[in-house]
Amino acid sequence: MPSLGARLRDRVAEAITAALGDAGGAADPRLQRSDRADWQANGVLALAKSLKANPRELAAKVVEALTADDVVAAGEVSGPGFINLTVSGPAILRQAAARVDDPRLGLPVAASTGVSVVDYSQPNIAKEMHVGHLRSTIIGDAIVRVLEFTGERVVRNNHLGDWGTQFGMLIQDLRERPELLAGEEEGGDQPSMSRLNRLYRGARARFDGDPDFADRARKRVVALQAGDPDTMDAWREIVEESKRYFEAVYAELDVLLTDADAVGESFYNPFLAEVCAELEESGVAVRSEGALCVFFDDVKGPDGSPVPLIVQKSDGGYGYGTTDLAAIRYRVNVLGATDLLYVVDSRQALHFKMVFETARRAGWLPEGVTARHLPFGTVLGPDGKPFKTRAGDTVRLVDLLQDAVDRAASVVREKSPDLSPEELAVRARQVGIGAVKYADLSTSRTRDYVFDVDRMVSLTGDTGVYLQYAYARIQSILRKAPDVTAAVDPEIPLEDPERALGLLLDEFGDAVAQVTELYEPHRLCNYLFSVASAFTAFYERCPVLKAPSEALMANRLLLCRLTAKTLRQGMALLGLATPEQL
Ligand code: ARG
Repeated sequence: MPSLGARLRDRVAEAITAALGDAGGAADPRLQRSDRADWQANGVLALAKSLKANPRELAAKVVEALTADDVVAAGEVSGPGFINLTVSGPAILRQAAARVDDPRLGLPVAASTGVSVVDYSQPNIAKEMHVGHLRSTIIGDAIVRVLEFTGERVVRNNHLGDWGTQFGMLIQDLRERPELLAGEEEGGDQPSMSRLNRLYRGARARFDGDPDFADRARKRVVALQAGDPDTMDAWREIVEESKRYFEAVYAELDVLLTDADAVGESFYNPFLAEVCAELEESGVAVRSEGALCVFFDDVKGPDGSPVPLIVQKSDGGYGYGTTDLAAIRYRVNVLGATDLLYVVDSRQALHFKMVFETARRAGWLPEGVTARHLPFGTVLGPDGKPFKTRAGDTVRLVDLLQDAVDRAASVVREKSPDLSPEELAVRARQVGIGAVKYADLSTSRTRDYVFDVDRMVSLTGDTGVYLQYAYARIQSILRKAPDVTAAVDPEIPLEDPERALGLLLDEFGDAVAQVTELYEPHRLCNYLFSVASAFTAFYERCPVLKAPSEALMANRLLLCRLTAKTLRQGMALLGLATPEQL
């Protein structure tokens, strides 16, 4: 796990450890942010217990020994033996000045890291992307960006659903009715995807209604699995067309995924027989009613009978899980993965539990390699039920995004009526897409949330637009600022909102670390929202451009610059655009 940050917090902790001297040993000072002071150290209490000393007396001794330090301005014993600590104003300003011109804002790059393979987005060929794929794409993108920033080696992996019996009916239908494709010269990638989706549904309807066609479609599946050249050609065409469409969506969403990251399920086909053979030989899987199954003590159906992971069906076909097992072997052995991460809907929790346990038993997940399913909740419609169109269909992702961009356009137009149509279009996209991403990322990952575009593009409240607006406002202050010749003067006493903002800015590394440790981007969202709010409070109370002295202006401009840079870097890690003006 990458370690981040030489923070004020660390220096406060060091000061306590130094003050404890030999008595402290390896005791953790247990620092917490506190309402009553900047930090509260709770560790002395436990230490006193183990030393059989009086906690308040020990705390008093520590406070006495503290005073000579240049980071801690004051210490005070509180309650049963807590220590309230006030950080010195000059230390806060010096820390800000030291970080502001570093492109990484003082956060180190991890020296030695593992290899994280992140499985995300994972749309299915010949089908529309829906809101579930939106969540996986956005959350995965943020996690990848944060991990890469910390220095972790990351392999992005878009596990495309590009294989399965559904291709039998689609290819068979297209071969029987080529006129479905002919004559429909549609421009752009999006219509062509709608067409594939429509064709897919047409084929499905034929399959369900016409047993003879169903037979021919099944034969087509056999031909596909046998690698029949004509069938493979048709399959490849469909895959390519779908991929072009996905790429258009990724470009619109402004995520890092590219074609090079796409590894379809079909990639693992050559390994499936081997996976099954190994599982059977080692006894991890057993034959049951003709199928090859893995059983688990704690996985049972409602009637109490065991529910197996079926790796090979009785007809010889392989399951979705078999592909995942082959993928684990590949990612660990060939890609050198130390951390396998799967950003997938929480309804697949049982699937991953069974797959991971099988892989462990088979020895494909050796010690030191972790596999984690990072589940996420459902996107709900205004009625609080899983998001569907009025006709009961899944909502097309492209329509959703368009809707958000359109509404963002009206918000932007109202704020800046003089924008040219081109500028308006660019900004509406940044705001609309940012709003959708932020609404998703700021919700704790496992929770469901209601897709409410009006709330998402609101200028007030915990929204992406609010953050973008805060950033743009600071940039406008900085543009207006005169050339200040005075240097930052750390000795000028800090007002409360300056102190609060300065301390908060120093916690950027902690917010980033929470994302890498817990894979929870909402923690970074919460942090950035507090930064924007703390800035607002600061700006209301502490005039910057009209500061009473040049030195004070220099100090406040420093806080403005560090706030802007922290917001920009933090938002970039979430994949959010930061327009200079709004
Ligand atoms: N394509 C699947 C779906 O749309 C998700 C794949 C998740 N990743 C995996 N390695 N199983 O439901």
